[in-house]
Amino acid sequence: MQIDHFYRDSWVEINLDDVEYNIKQLAEHIGEDKGIYAVVKANAYGHGYVQIAQAALNAGASALAVAFLDEALHLRQAGIQAAILVMGATRPEDAAIAADHDITLTFYRKDWLEAVRTQQLAKTLRLHMKLDTGMGRIGFRTSEEIRSVVSLLEDPSLHLEGVFTHFATADEADLAYFEGQRSKLDALLKTLREVWNDPITIHTDNSAASMRFAAEESDYVRFGIGMYGLYPSKIVKEEHPISLRQAFSLHSRIVHVKQLEAHEAVSYGATYETDGPEWIGTLPIGYADGWIRKMQGFEVLVDGKRMPIVGRVCMDQCMIKLDQAYPVGTEVVLIGTQQGVCISMDEAADWVETINYEVPCLIGARMPRVYKHAGQTVEVANTLYSGRTF
Ligand SMILES: Cc1ncc(COP(=O)(O)O)c(C=O)c1O
Repeated sequence: MQIDHFYRDSWVEINLDDVEYNIKQLAEHIGEDKGIYAVVKANAYGHGYVQIAQAALNAGASALAVAFLDEALHLRQAGIQAAILVMGATRPEDAAIAADHDITLTFYRKDWLEAVRTQQLAKTLRLHMKLDTGMGRIGFRTSEEIRSVVSLLEDPSLHLEGVFTHFATADEADLAYFEGQRSKLDALLKTLREVWNDPITIHTDNSAASMRFAAEESDYVRFGIGMYGLYPSKIVKEEHPISLRQAFSLHSRIVHVKQLEAHEAVSYGATYETDGPEWIGTLPIGYADGWIRKMQGFEVLVDGKRMPIVGRVCMDQCMIKLDQAYPVGTEVVLIGTQQGVCISMDEAADWVETINYEVPCLIGARMPRVYKHAGQTVEVANTLYSGRTF
């Protein structure tokens, strides 16, 4: 167990049991013949690369997916040996590093394959072909493009292991665009099967698609947001195809309490003015932690009651209006449950007019993360001076 100390009164708690629960719920839902890529890019959506990767693999995920090679190397450096797919762009000159570390890369351009073939790869490079069936991001879009790269793939240092696409609207009520993407996918896969005889794994479904209508032809799903216990959209949440548990909660403690007189102001711009005598608490968390300025006016939980954030959120602190005096050190929940009252990630996302994906991603590296398993703290991670005790 690694315990990094931290010396501030704000922290994230990640419940690894919830991550495992969510993986198991999905595994049961999609059936045994499909594998799960646990999507742990972007610091596992702000939850912690290595801790989430390990929890996901323990719970039955078959492999990991990230956006960039640096993220995959971070996982390898931490000793993770599972298969890792880089789903985004990698420079051709970095292909050898990926091959050396058994990291699978995504390709979507002919000139990329040509450039990789000019390199001396000491080990076979595993590749997944990305198809753009309507996301408009990266991927081959036509049968001609697929045909044009087949001969390049017949290179002993390359191994075409998989093919995948990504859906743009699998979480929406209107499924017309999604169906269109699936038809395009069928046509492109038909071409690929005509020109490539070796077995290839197929993976098409993100959380929304895997929870709602896991495609029959897919060997794997790519499970991101659902693994963290969040539904990809309100529609999917209402449909509730599987039960999920939000793993992330955000905590702080009151570091200062004071009573202001009527008509006194709080924070930059003096935008908040007290109506009468008011108890104001200060929390050591601000926009530099990802608790962005738009959180002004949102609520936090103190003693199981909702209290508003008043005045502008500062870089490292923000102020809340209290219903009474509370002692310094009183715990505050900014996202999560306190005494049975819940402020969900979805509610926080709604307040700042974004999606639930963005909120934990914003909570930055300065914020310590405390990992819980079976009710116990199993790790405390502080990236500011990881592994050192002061
Ligand atoms: C290519 C790809 N696959 C899978 C995912 C996971 O999506 P979700 O978090 O909705 O499950 C993402 C996330 O953006 C992605 O870019």
